Amino acid sequence: MFNLKISSGGKKEDFKPLSSAVAYVVDDKYLKNNLLKIEDKFGIILSALQLRNITSKEGSEIIISKSSGYPDSILISKVKLDKKFSTDYFRNHLAGVIQKLEKEKIENLYLFIPEFNSFSKYFDKEEYYYRTFLEGLFLGNYSFEKFKKDKKEPRDLNVSLFAQKERFLKPAIEKSISLAAGINFTKDLQNEPASSLRPFELAKSVKSVLTKAGIKVTVFDEKEAKKRNMGGLLAVGMGSTNKPRFIIAHYKPKSVKKKMKKIVLVGKGVTFDTGGYCVKPAQGMTEMKADMSGAAVVAGTLLAAAKAELPVEILGIIPAAENMISGDAMRPGDVVKTASGKTIEVGHTDAEGRMILADALDYASKQKPDEIIDFATLTGACVVALGQNAAGLFTKYDKLAEKLNDTGMKTYERVWRLPMWDEYAKANESKIADVNNDGGRYAGATTAAKFLENFVDEKIPWAHIDIAGPAIAHDLNNYTKTYMTGFGVRLMFEYLSGK
Ligand code: BES
Ligand code: MN
Ligand code: ZN
Repeated sequence: MFNLKISSGGKKEDFKPLSSAVAYVVDDKYLKNNLLKIEDKFGIILSALQLRNITSKEGSEIIISKSSGYPDSILISKVKLDKKFSTDYFRNHLAGVIQKLEKEKIENLYLFIPEFNSFSKYFDKEEYYYRTFLEGLFLGNYSFEKFKKDKKEPRDLNVSLFAQKERFLKPAIEKSISLAAGINFTKDLQNEPASSLRPFELAKSVKSVLTKAGIKVTVFDEKEAKKRNMGGLLAVGMGSTNKPRFIIAHYKPKSVKKKMKKIVLVGKGVTFDTGGYCVKPAQGMTEMKADMSGAAVVAGTLLAAAKAELPVEILGIIPAAENMISGDAMRPGDVVKTASGKTIEVGHTDAEGRMILADALDYASKQKPDEIIDFATLTGACVVALGQNAAGLFTKYDKLAEKLNDTGMKTYERVWRLPMWDEYAKANESKIADVNNDGGRYAGATTAAKFLENFVDEKIPWAHIDIAGPAIAHDLNNYTKTYMTGFGVRLMFEYLSGK
């Protein structure tokens, strides 16, 4: 991991020792001409072989080592603007580049961002186009080594960016630094083992990090939760010696505009999910330390928003509990009463997320916000439906759906809408309580969302985002390969920036 020191607008003439450069060429009819420009920029002459390699149909990149002068090496990467090109291209590519540089002796990196013209049909704003390069560096640069005996201390890497329009580059740098702080906090929380991130430790960590950023954090302990009749949260946490917490984080920007939106973000904070008495098989339990990913997304988003001073009021709500087995644990067939007054029949102890969210969504509704958005690693069914490339989106509000979908495409934290039709609510009916938490095998992601709907004020626009797939590490992308992904923070940061 590097300690990235980002700057813009350096002079090309002062290339320093221990340095690499990254430059891109677009594979269009000006390719040969653009390669000439690169030769000129770095004072190099490409050999016939190198030219052939990069201009050939399959050729994608060449690395040139300079025999004299700096930078020591230059990576020239060819960008094909074909059907496969996506707005995640530079993010993904640079994440890979920074990971490879990790193994090298290097102190300076020069990054040449290609002219916006060729990419303007993919990005609506030049500033955001620049940001994808920066995000790639930050996302690829993450590592989680606190439990390693031989930790590699992060070393400084000076990154100089060269782009056509300084006035877009400067804000892009600032925003991505705030955003990266949020994403890294989210990932740290997700990657922390459950033995050292119990509900009280999640609360402690969120409180200490967010308070430093000027956010007000209140934590309800088990007693306070009891007073508030949060029976869903308490039942899930009952089997564990590590009692539940209910975390409320309030970000209010300093420069308050009169008509500012108030958004509530809710995040599932199950610090470990054994499944309870309906215990999970070993294979299904391995990644359940990350069953608090929704909580982590909420915390990371608040941190990024506060650092960037976004002009929107945000309330983050995190119900935190550990779903364990013991003499005190909830049993299948139990009935619990939530803060809303509605009762839940525990059809399945592994459907715990929706039980703690019931109390959280009820609390959220009572704050009378303009919108509620919740994030949860809620169902395996959603992963079966969509895999790890997209989160499930559930809402009855078409405008909200459209905005979240567009923001997902832009940030490449994509969401895909699944049905919220009332017919699906039948699956949650209970004979002895108001609802049953086990919706059965069919349309499991939708029936979970329909369950949650019981606890949201129907007048408040609400969206539920099931991140069970994309939150967990996967090798579909350079920056999601090794660790939990932080999925959702880029999406929310961008969404809230537009508020
Ligand atoms: N935490 C799990 C969902 C999950 C699965 C998250 C895979 C991340 C990766 C959730 O609490 C759960 O166990 N859901 C059950 C619900 C069922 C019992 C109704 C599921 O999806 O099987
Ligand atoms: Mn579960
Ligand atoms: Zn769970």
